[in-house]
Amino acid sequence: MKVLFTGIQPTGDLHIGNYFGAVRNWVRLQHEYISYICVVDLHALVIFNDPKTMPQRIFDMAVGLYACGIDMEKTTLFVQSEVPGHADLTWIFNTVTPLGELERMTQFKDKAQQHRKNVNAGLLDYPVLQAADILLYKGEVVPVGEDQVQHIELTREIARYFNKRYGSTFPECEALLTETPRIMGLDGDQKMSKSKGNTIGLIEDKEEIWKKLSVAKTDPARIRRNDPGTPEKCNIYSYHKLITPETELAEIHQGCSTAAIGCIDCKKILFKNLMAELDPIRNKYHALTAKPKEVHELLAENAKKCTLQAKKTILEVKEKMGLKPVWKI
Ligand code: AMP
Ligand code: TRP
Repeated sequence: MKVLFTGIQPTGDLHIGNYFGAVRNWVRLQHEYISYICVVDLHALVIFNDPKTMPQRIFDMAVGLYACGIDMEKTTLFVQSEVPGHADLTWIFNTVTPLGELERMTQFKDKAQQHRKNVNAGLLDYPVLQAADILLYKGEVVPVGEDQVQHIELTREIARYFNKRYGSTFPECEALLTETPRIMGLDGDQKMSKSKGNTIGLIEDKEEIWKKLSVAKTDPARIRRNDPGTPEKCNIYSYHKLITPETELAEIHQGCSTAAIGCIDCKKILFKNLMAELDPIRNKYHALTAKPKEVHELLAENAKKCTLQAKKTILEVKEKMGLKPVWKI
C-alpha cells in the first residue's frame, strides 16, 4: 500500500470547507493507503500564536478529525511538534530549495499582504516545512484542497532537487483533490476560511448555523420571491450538491429555475440535510471530549511511532549528505 500523508492546522474548529473539501475524503482514503494525518502546530505559529489556547486547539482538532470518521486504528493521527525530525528535515531542504521558488508561492504573497506587520521568515519557509512533513514519511499521495496544490508541486520539486544532488531518496508525491476542492464561504465571494469569517463550523450551535444560513448570499437574480434563477450561479445550490440526495437535488434545481421554491425554503432543506450529516459528527465529538485521556494517550503513542519512522529517514538523509558521526569515518 502507498503512503498517504496530509496535514491540518490547529487554527480553530473544523468547518464545512475543510470537511467537504478534504476531510471527508481522508475518511474514505484511509482504507486504501497507509495513512498519516498531522496536526501541524508548527505551521500555525507563523501567523499568530496564543500559547494559552494552543493545547486546547490541538486537542479539539484531533477530536474533530476522529469525530468525522478518522479511524483510530487505521490512521496515524499525530501532532507535528511532538515528533523531532520535521524541523531538522526542513533545514536540510532549505539548503536545496531556491529562494525564488518560495517567493512566488501564492499563499506566501497573500499572507504577506494580509499580515504586513508580521512577515516572518517562517511564512516564507512554510512550504519547506510542509515538504519535510510529507517526505519524512516518504508520502506519495497527499489529499488536500485546491489551495495546497502549489505547495505539493513544490514538494515534488524539492524531492527532485535533493535526489539529484544526493541520490535517489524521496518519492515524487502527488496531490489528490476531491470533486469539490474549493468550497466557497457564506459570502459566496471567497473561499471558505476561518480567517475570512465566512464559515459554517462542524460543531457550531444549530441555531447559530441557521442564523448564518438564513442571511447567506443566494442567486443574485432572485431578488423577489417569484424571480426565477440559475441554480449553478447560487452558492446555496453549490452546498446542496455536497449533501442533498439526487432526486431532491433535481427537485430543487427545477424549483429554483422556475421560482416554485423560494430561497428561504431552499435553505431550510439544506439546513435539514446538513444537520443529518453533521449530527453524528457532533455526537461523536461530544462523546470523545468526555474521554480526553483516551485521545491524549493515542496521540502520544502515535507520536512515538512517527518518531521512529522520522529517525530512520533522517539517518538515511544524513548518511547521504556526509553528516556521519566522526567515529564512523
Ligand atoms: P487548513 O484548515 O487551512 O489547515 O486546511 C485543511 C485542509 O482543508 C487542507 O487540505 C485545505 O486545502 C482544505 N480546505 C480548507 N479550506 C477549504 C475550502 N474552503 N475548500 C476546500 N478545501 C479546503
Ligand atoms: N499547509 C496545509 C494547509 O494549510 C497544512 C499542511 C501542513 C499539510 N503540512 C502538510 C497538508 C503536509 C498536506 C501535507 O492546509
